[in-house]
Amino acid sequence: MCGIVAYIGHREACPIIIKGLHRLEYRGYDSAGVALLTDELTVYKKKGKVSELEGFIAAKDTKANIGMGHTRWATHGEPNDENAHPHFSTSERIAIIHNGIIENYAALKTHLQQQGHVFHSDTDTEVFVNLIEEIKKQNDCSLEEAVRLALHEVVGAYAIVVLSQDAPNQLIAARKGSPMVIGIGEGEFFIASDATPIIEYTNEVVYVNDYEIVVIRDGQLNIRSREDVNQTPYIQKLEMELDSIEKGGYEHFMLKEIFEQPRSIMDSMRGRLELEAGHLNMGGIRAYEQKFVNAQRIIIVACGTSWHAGLVAEYLIEDLARIPVEVEYASEFRYRNPIITERDIVIAISQSGETADTLAAIELAKSKGATIFGVCNVVGSSIARATDAGAYTHAGPEIGVASTKAFTAQVTVLTLLAMIMGQKRGTITDTKLRELMVELDTIPTKVEKALLLDAQIREIAVEFKDATNFLYLGRGYNFPVALEGALKLKEISYIHAEGYPAAEMKHGPIALIDENMPIVVIATRDSSYEKVVSNIQEVKARKGRIIAIVSEGDTVIPPMAEFVIEVPHTSEILMPLVSVVPLQLLSYHIAVLRGCNVDQPRNLAKSVTVE
Ligand code: M6R
Repeated sequence: MCGIVAYIGHREACPIIIKGLHRLEYRGYDSAGVALLTDELTVYKKKGKVSELEGFIAAKDTKANIGMGHTRWATHGEPNDENAHPHFSTSERIAIIHNGIIENYAALKTHLQQQGHVFHSDTDTEVFVNLIEEIKKQNDCSLEEAVRLALHEVVGAYAIVVLSQDAPNQLIAARKGSPMVIGIGEGEFFIASDATPIIEYTNEVVYVNDYEIVVIRDGQLNIRSREDVNQTPYIQKLEMELDSIEKGGYEHFMLKEIFEQPRSIMDSMRGRLELEAGHLNMGGIRAYEQKFVNAQRIIIVACGTSWHAGLVAEYLIEDLARIPVEVEYASEFRYRNPIITERDIVIAISQSGETADTLAAIELAKSKGATIFGVCNVVGSSIARATDAGAYTHAGPEIGVASTKAFTAQVTVLTLLAMIMGQKRGTITDTKLRELMVELDTIPTKVEKALLLDAQIREIAVEFKDATNFLYLGRGYNFPVALEGALKLKEISYIHAEGYPAAEMKHGPIALIDENMPIVVIATRDSSYEKVVSNIQEVKARKGRIIAIVSEGDTVIPPMAEFVIEVPHTSEILMPLVSVVPLQLLSYHIAVLRGCNVDQPRNLAKSVTVE
């Protein structure tokens, strides 16, 4: 949540910052602002998207070689000009941008007000910058020292950049719990919440660690710990391509990402599924193989769509590897004193690798001695670095707030993991394993075929775009898909939707069904097919409007349903990878037809770094 960008070097800072903010807008889009440092420190900020800010500064003098910018997802204080970042200190000689939350801001604010500091916003961030100013005054110290001392006083999460009129040619940054990456160019440096604003200038980056303070002065990068100990920066090469963060001719990132799935699923399997040689590999578990083999239990922690991928993994791991699995919302797990032992493995699933609740759940499980395995998409992210081992999903950057290709990549990696565990534990026969490998290899082609349904699904979307409620039903492996379909629709079209296990409908939601209620039933041919057919009959008897997702060639369900979407058939355990595709497309088209902002739905952000 919130995106930060900063630049110091020989180029004009403002265009770099604005472009970077556009790339980071997926993190929040309530307001945006820039601070530029010449002989003076100037701040421009505006409620609304980055484009509003761009219009606002178009006629202003924005020439500067040092600057920073922010795109906000509101936490403390409503989205308005005053609450937009950057924030000045009372003297207006220091400015700050901040991603995170300062939990003890109220007490600090009272103290600072007593010292004469004046506040213009409702934010915790304005407290932070005044705290730095007050410490600097009290200790008569450098800006760097004041920032360092301030970090000892704040409780919470932050990625901050600080500029001061009294410290020209200098940019100071620090992080704890919120992501920050530094790009190292020729005589220039970039700071950002992720690598997307940096990639076109340099591929050399340093991921800043918690409690580190970065000082860039006179062309030199210096990193110190909060305890003031010098740290050696670990420079890594970025592997991201510029194309992967642009729309490539699609109207929205979400649509591009839905259509990328044949490729992204293939990338998740690359080097892991070796069909000809008959091998399955996953470098990440090698060192922990015995732990996995002997695990008494697996606990999966995640949020949102990643939690749905975790539910699919529960079915997969219990089916193939016969290890008991519990799937937990990270936000609940972290606060309920769960029983965790050293023989447990915790799998943390996260696209962004920055979700605060998932990170906190990892820390809790770690403190109890569990082995933590991460399934993340963003390379070098906080979760990827906090885990003992893991596997990247390799889906490529996902920019649309609604997760699509990340989900199928997560399910692919978790399928491979379950297969490998089943093989090592001897709970799956060689024949069954071989069959599954062959079938998994066909999934990218089957997803490609499912994508051909796009035009048909758009027609269905036209029919239902004005609905106010939707019900999604599925059983077994398709139950998490029903939850995922409902979440996709809610978040981008603002239509209320519920996902339910089809058989559970009769225990309550059936009361909602009338002739206006659209009900999406995922009824592909699997072990609960007949049962789902009965559930469809129950809906039909109450005049619900049925949209059925069926396996190709199904002749039983079409006469019962108002709309039928035929997807390629695959093994029951791989079906979520195919059956989710029409649901992604349905939510996309409904949202577009309703005029919603598909890539940046209201109130949401791509990476949720607040609890
Ligand atoms: O980055 P993560 O996978 O940890 O994010 C978890 C959720 O915030 C995320 O899946 C969210 O639910 C998406 N907007 C769903 O499309």
